[in-house]
Amino acid sequence: MKSGDNLSKLFEPCNIGSMELRNRLVMPPMGTNFSSEDGSVTQRAIEYYRERARGGVGLVIVEGAYVHPLGKGSNLQMSLTGDDKIPGLSKLAKAIQAEGAKAAIQLFHAGRQVSSMIIGAQPVSASDVPCMLVRETPRPMTLEEIEETIEAFGEAARRVKVAGFDAVEIHAAHGYLINQFLSPLTNLRRDKYGGSFEGRTRFLVEIIERIRRKVGKNFPVICRMNGSDFFEGGITLEEAKRIAQTAEAAGVDAIHVSGGIYDSENGEATAPMWLPRGFMVPLAQGIKKVVNVPVIAVGRINDVKLAEKILEEGQADLVSMGRALIADPELPRKAMEGRLGEIRPCIACNEGCINMLLFLKSVTCVLNAAVGREEEFRIQPEKKPKKVLVVGGGVGGMEFARVAALRGHRVSLYEKTMELGGQVLLASVPSYKYELRSIVPYFKHELERLGVSIHLGEEISESKIYELEPEVVCIATGSSLVLPSIPGIDGGNVVLATDVLAGKAQVGEKVVILGGGEIGLETGYHLAEQGKKVTIIEQMKRVATEMIPAFNYYVRHKFAGFGGKLITQAKVVEVTSEGAIYEKEGQRNLEKADTVVVALGTVQNRSLYENLKDKFPEVYLVGDAAERGKIMNAIHSAAETARKI
Ligand SMILES: Cc1cc2nc3c(=O)[nH]c(=O)nc-3n(C[C@H](O)[C@H](O)[C@H](O)COP(=O)(O)O)c2cc1C
Repeated sequence: MKSGDNLSKLFEPCNIGSMELRNRLVMPPMGTNFSSEDGSVTQRAIEYYRERARGGVGLVIVEGAYVHPLGKGSNLQMSLTGDDKIPGLSKLAKAIQAEGAKAAIQLFHAGRQVSSMIIGAQPVSASDVPCMLVRETPRPMTLEEIEETIEAFGEAARRVKVAGFDAVEIHAAHGYLINQFLSPLTNLRRDKYGGSFEGRTRFLVEIIERIRRKVGKNFPVICRMNGSDFFEGGITLEEAKRIAQTAEAAGVDAIHVSGGIYDSENGEATAPMWLPRGFMVPLAQGIKKVVNVPVIAVGRINDVKLAEKILEEGQADLVSMGRALIADPELPRKAMEGRLGEIRPCIACNEGCINMLLFLKSVTCVLNAAVGREEEFRIQPEKKPKKVLVVGGGVGGMEFARVAALRGHRVSLYEKTMELGGQVLLASVPSYKYELRSIVPYFKHELERLGVSIHLGEEISESKIYELEPEVVCIATGSSLVLPSIPGIDGGNVVLATDVLAGKAQVGEKVVILGGGEIGLETGYHLAEQGKKVTIIEQMKRVATEMIPAFNYYVRHKFAGFGGKLITQAKVVEVTSEGAIYEKEGQRNLEKADTVVVALGTVQNRSLYENLKDKFPEVYLVGDAAERGKIMNAIHSAAETARKI
């Protein structure tokens, strides 16, 4: 493999202690929930990691695996608690190494950041400071328990080495147990494990020393820590620099600089799309200035050119790309071969990955339906390629066309507008969702590369389909907002939210939005950000419940910050030239507005499908037209269906 000229630093070999890496790209630890109930490694996990190693990354740090039963963080988390886990771990290490990557694994203890439902006991911590997200108060660890836990970290590291891994990482970041000891916010102890800086770092230092004793001098040990807790009263960069120096003095070979705890407002640890790319790099850079061991940067570095720049400018020695490798395990290879346009982007939507873990499900990816089913989803070339016609150029249609073309089918795609992208073009209009836009160039590039014949501005009729004589028809015609039957809805002051987002509708200064679902809330955000006075009226108690909790919280708070108003449990009964009349608690009220924006009532555009389904042997309905929902449903249903044709 040849490195693209402009990414030469990224693809330069480097060392962490005695471990030589083929490049400076690291897959950071990311929980998958692919393990069995007792925490053993499964074949599913092996295939998932093998795929990432095969893609060309230098170092794979396998997900945080718990070292003690009280430290378990999720229902199907990997375990390092007993020697019985070693054979499975060995297979995993070998699978990664066989692809030329080095294999490490992270030692994890959740401390207070876990529900008692998972561990079957009250969570433990440095002190009894509750976690707001988990909403439980932990129990301070006794001195005996601290010693038992230090030994558990040491034993876990020994197992990692025996299993044949190349390195081990200590999880001292993200508000988990070690972070709880390090932070003055969560460590209120008055014994030797608390109080002074020395007291608060003692737990980490003793863990490092115990691990060293168990694994010997030459086995690489990485310490993952927070460059900032992003929480008032927590660890700051200045304190983090001292912690990093302390960890280095205790014997670690590299520092992996992340940030954030569960209670951080923006979820920095798994930064959502509204945080800027590479926003934590200054933390790594600050720490790099005060230590001599290599420093790894992480956090929304979803672009290889940015990764190269970070290395080039000496801000860090290695770069982690996490969700980007869930989205596209082949990212390193594609980058190395100069095939940047082929990289499936991570849009930091968190829907398929961290949000799944939050609900104790296994990880997937909105854009990559193959995650966790790598073997089953391997593209099988079709021996008898068919003529495939795709109607609709939204994400569902594009994914269907992409997969069908990859399998060797002859694919044409018809889109009635002049642009590919469908709903994504509108969904990416609110400023905080700009990342979503990168989906479209990726698909365009792939469809062109795979020889899909794309017809824009052509609305396809039933007769045209007969004329084209396809063997397979995929209907991906999406859904549309419609005007509900409310008196006055046909007034000149009424517009559809989709037309507002598309920039096609004139909107006055004072706006009422009918419907507080995702479209309504996001349109409200978009207009309120422009300085308009916006009120959203929603019939239910909560708005936009289909959004993931972190995003719902963020958008609601920003909307309120822009001066937006929410009226919930209210029913709009009439629209007049003055605004919208709604009923709430038996009262009729008028919410004055220059413009009334409609964001409720959708129809699935299925008529073409209904007309064709009994006339063609292979007609498929995918995307919103099949099941109104999220980008993930559209892409996954298309990816699954196109593999079967
Ligand atoms: C699904 C998921 C699981 C994660 N699990 C862990 C973990 O077990 N240990 C850890 O230190 N970080 C974990 N992280 C954080 C990642 O290692 C990484 O720091 C974060 O995703 C930001 O990097 P990125 O923007 O490149 O994805 C997880 C992130 C995700 C998305």
